Amino acid sequence: MDNIILEMRSITKTFPGVKALDNVNLKVREGEIHALVGENGAGKSTLMKVLSGVYPAGTYEGEIHYDGEVRHFGTISDSEELGIIIIHQELALVPLLSIAENIFLGNEMAVNGVINWPQTFAKTKELLAKVGLKDSPSTRITDIGVGKQQLVEIAKALSKKVRLLILDEPTASLNETDSDALLNLLMEFRKQGMTSIIISHKLNEIRKVADQITILRDGTTVETLDCHTQEISEDRIIKGMVGRDMEDRYPPRAPKIGDMLLEVKNWNVFHQNHRDRQFLHDVNLTVRAGEVVGIAGLMGAGRTETAMSIFGRSWGHKITGEVLMRGKPVDVSTIPRAIEAGLAYVTEDRKQLGLVLQNNIVKNTTLANLSDVSKSGVIDERKEAQVASGYRNKLRIRSHSIYQEAVNLSGGNQQKVVLSKWLFTNPDVLILDEPTRGIDVGAKFEIYTIINQLAAEGKGILMISSEMPELLGTCDRVYVMNEGRIVAELPKGEASQESIMRAIMRSGEKR
Ligand SMILES: Nc1ncnc2c1ncn2[C@@H]1O[C@H](COP(=O)(O)OP(=O)(O)OP(=O)(O)O)[C@@H](O)[C@H]1O
Ligand SMILES: [Mg+2]
Repeated sequence: MDNIILEMRSITKTFPGVKALDNVNLKVREGEIHALVGENGAGKSTLMKVLSGVYPAGTYEGEIHYDGEVRHFGTISDSEELGIIIIHQELALVPLLSIAENIFLGNEMAVNGVINWPQTFAKTKELLAKVGLKDSPSTRITDIGVGKQQLVEIAKALSKKVRLLILDEPTASLNETDSDALLNLLMEFRKQGMTSIIISHKLNEIRKVADQITILRDGTTVETLDCHTQEISEDRIIKGMVGRDMEDRYPPRAPKIGDMLLEVKNWNVFHQNHRDRQFLHDVNLTVRAGEVVGIAGLMGAGRTETAMSIFGRSWGHKITGEVLMRGKPVDVSTIPRAIEAGLAYVTEDRKQLGLVLQNNIVKNTTLANLSDVSKSGVIDERKEAQVASGYRNKLRIRSHSIYQEAVNLSGGNQQKVVLSKWLFTNPDVLILDEPTRGIDVGAKFEIYTIINQLAAEGKGILMISSEMPELLGTCDRVYVMNEGRIVAELPKGEASQESIMRAIMRSGEKR
């Protein structure tokens, strides 16, 4: 089975000011799951865009051999025709269209220009079943979370004739259960002879599914590891990625917990779109100065909705309850008021809500706090640049300059810019929603270090995360949410993967 389906030879790709890929080589065997790993900005997504024709032949150097021939893909359709289907890191679904419409967008099942809806719906249902989704084909994309959207993307890929499936961080927004389902699906596809290339920062997943692992660093190929001839540990992969051994995944934390900062009382919220459905029920939570508090839960538990409804009522309606800061009720009814009250919210959905993609790093960094870089209402561009440079260094944002547009940053670096933006508002309580999604191990460590520093400065951190090890590694206390309710509160000593899962299961049984 050592048939080579794909060989990329000496690929070099340059953008103005950056050499994103420098003589990269990749060899993929037919029928295998090939993992592509590397730090943020290493060039993984770029390499896959070269392969799929997003960057057409002629815009890069080197050769692509696929299925025995040299290929020059001029467009994405050229590569799709040969069964190469890519699911991009940032999802590309149309929010206001239904699942079925999205899956068959540009590929409609129509006779004489009339779409056959019964057939479209039936086929969609079939595809959804393959990825484990039970939602109706007519559900609009806005009504499902980013996790489910990822599964819809995969269902969409399956609607085409796929031989080589490329998944750029498919599980970044999925919780463990859903990730497992997706990985099992990939292994199932492998049995059927499909080849896939998967990019991920979740090394446990890579170890689980990969036959081979190619490591990129700074736009060059470091090595390809064969998981069948040797035992590959996560530490071994990390070493290849960062070029040295990394001892700890979490920086040491010596919490100094002080006065009460944030209190949310009897928070009840109705669904944004289904207006008669209550979504959050009597949520009560607190965050003290110097404290890192986690919220665990499965996809759809209501964690993001809790954060967003608190932060300027950016989600939900018929919101009742109280928010207090340092014991005093505060008005958080709009985003500016919530910021004024000392809150900041780093969104999980950075593309839609976190960044102005066409703007550069500087403008994105200062966006939520322009007054601090302005004099008499005029923006001081030098000061702005200083601020942005400061965060670029502190968070190690990888870009050729602070004037690079956000749209051209790698996914992980975009996330760091979102974080800079909210740090610059100097909040008392920082709410982080999946702050390390799509972020490499080294940068994760840096983000945890920043969280610790903020806590040490007396700020409160409320962190939503689907990665339980991350919650356990960083939090002083963990709330567990399920079905719109807080179902457990676990101090550090009692929080474990088991106790969190048990709390979720038990609350599910009660209803
Ligand atoms: N269109 C572009 N214009 C300019 N620079 C770009 C463009 N696309 C990517 N880059 C740069 O190329 C480098 C590689 O980016 P790429 O997106 O391939 O990284 P990645 O390995 O996928 O990272 P991540 O894990 O964060 O997604 C980065 O330095 C990035 O800023
Ligand atoms: Mg990428």
